[in-house]
Amino acid sequence: MPGRALTAEDEHMWDENNRSLNGPFEPWHQEADTFDLEVVGKIPLELNGSLYRTSSNPHVQPPHPNRYHWFDGDGMIYGVFLRDGRAHASSRWVRTAAFKVEEENGKAVYGSILNGGVPVDFSLDPPMKNPANTHVTLFDDRLLVFTEVDLPHELHPTTLETRGQYDYHGDVSGPVTAHWKTDPRNGDMLFYGVSGSTLTWYHANSHGKLLDSHQFDMGVACFLHDFVATEDYAVFMITPTLFTGPEDLMAGKPSVVWDPETSNGTRFAVLDRHSGAVTFIDGGGAYSGTHFYNAYQEGSSIVIDGHRTDRWGWLSEESAAIAPGQDCNEWFDSMVAKPWRWVLDLSSQRLTRDYQINDVVGEFPRINDEYALRKHRFGYYATTQGTDRWLTDGLAKHDYQGDLTATIPNAELVSPSEPVFVPRDNATSEDDGWMMSLWWNPFTRLAEMLIHDALHFDAEPVARIKLNQRVPMGFHGNWIDGAAIEAAVSSQTV
Ligand SMILES: [Fe+2]
Repeated sequence: MPGRALTAEDEHMWDENNRSLNGPFEPWHQEADTFDLEVVGKIPLELNGSLYRTSSNPHVQPPHPNRYHWFDGDGMIYGVFLRDGRAHASSRWVRTAAFKVEEENGKAVYGSILNGGVPVDFSLDPPMKNPANTHVTLFDDRLLVFTEVDLPHELHPTTLETRGQYDYHGDVSGPVTAHWKTDPRNGDMLFYGVSGSTLTWYHANSHGKLLDSHQFDMGVACFLHDFVATEDYAVFMITPTLFTGPEDLMAGKPSVVWDPETSNGTRFAVLDRHSGAVTFIDGGGAYSGTHFYNAYQEGSSIVIDGHRTDRWGWLSEESAAIAPGQDCNEWFDSMVAKPWRWVLDLSSQRLTRDYQINDVVGEFPRINDEYALRKHRFGYYATTQGTDRWLTDGLAKHDYQGDLTATIPNAELVSPSEPVFVPRDNATSEDDGWMMSLWWNPFTRLAEMLIHDALHFDAEPVARIKLNQRVPMGFHGNWIDGAAIEAAVSSQTV
């Protein structure tokens, strides 16, 4: 087993008051392969493949542990491989250029992306860290790890060894969003990159060949984490979360601030995927989406489902006055994300309806991806209903047709990840499938994977898999079918 074991000094290390370093976020310093994992219940035999997940897992002590933020952790990628009712799990860090710089220095070189703390040195290569920690999927026969500040990294699909960066066969050179969408009809990838106030739209086929690209100016340098796409449009929510400039970065200040005045509130940019024409629509206030489920066209309208929060980022005056030892994550910890629907009418170019879907607050929304870009009925997400609203505490399934929400709390396990929906073979309805999620066991301080039958959502899980590894709370992931993994491995060995 490569890597090193945790020592007593590592336990609750570095800053016991910073939640991003403790509990479900506690780092794990073993790159491990664990086999024949203990299973309570039964893994459905039809599940042959891997749940790939990211974790946010600092490999060295942050320079200012109080400033360390969940988003800063180095990406350790996990594969939970299922076959014939058995499971094994592997984990590897993504060896980015910045990871190697810190490895060679034997200590942290980079400050916090969100909370600053270390003046950015533009003579360093790279000057800022790509943490490679946000999303992972198989595309173009490659296992790719995405973070929006850079091109994706490519890993071996089974060994998880880092192979370098992926540039869509030379067609993309700038940053790529971690929230691409896949068109289920043809496997095409729809994505974008942001540099300053310029957004570049890309559409590639399933072999990574770029089919079209458009560019437009958002008006502000907005932190744009997620978007939605329909058959004919792509919609971007331009929020008051704005990037600060190089002067702020060189002064060690946070990289984004919440500035509704400069952004002129929240707006939608609707891109016609065919012509490249952009329509801006006023969002009726200052707020931010966190993540989106999906969107679809209905007549002249676009229906968008996602989660909404009232504020996202430091206020400028707060960011300028961070005190030594200050709890830097206060604004983030108090954030609440509500399930929300927006309806844009393209003929009047107005936001015609927007409203909260239910009272079950939470984050990490997903759908059955077979319905992406077209009308969906069900949404799944991790709830944050407890008093400690930043921490996830259960899962929810919302039926938009019946306006019903079912929830799964689990007293023994906590802090579930984003749920990933896997359609059953020969599924007969949109919600006919399995829901996979990773949870934290506070007694063992290790991770467990639960598989729920999405049709019987609030029943006991059909399988509880004990990973024998910790998975520090990460962000996103995907289930990849075993045949696709095998094809990817053999295409790379030819
Ligand atoms: Fe995300």
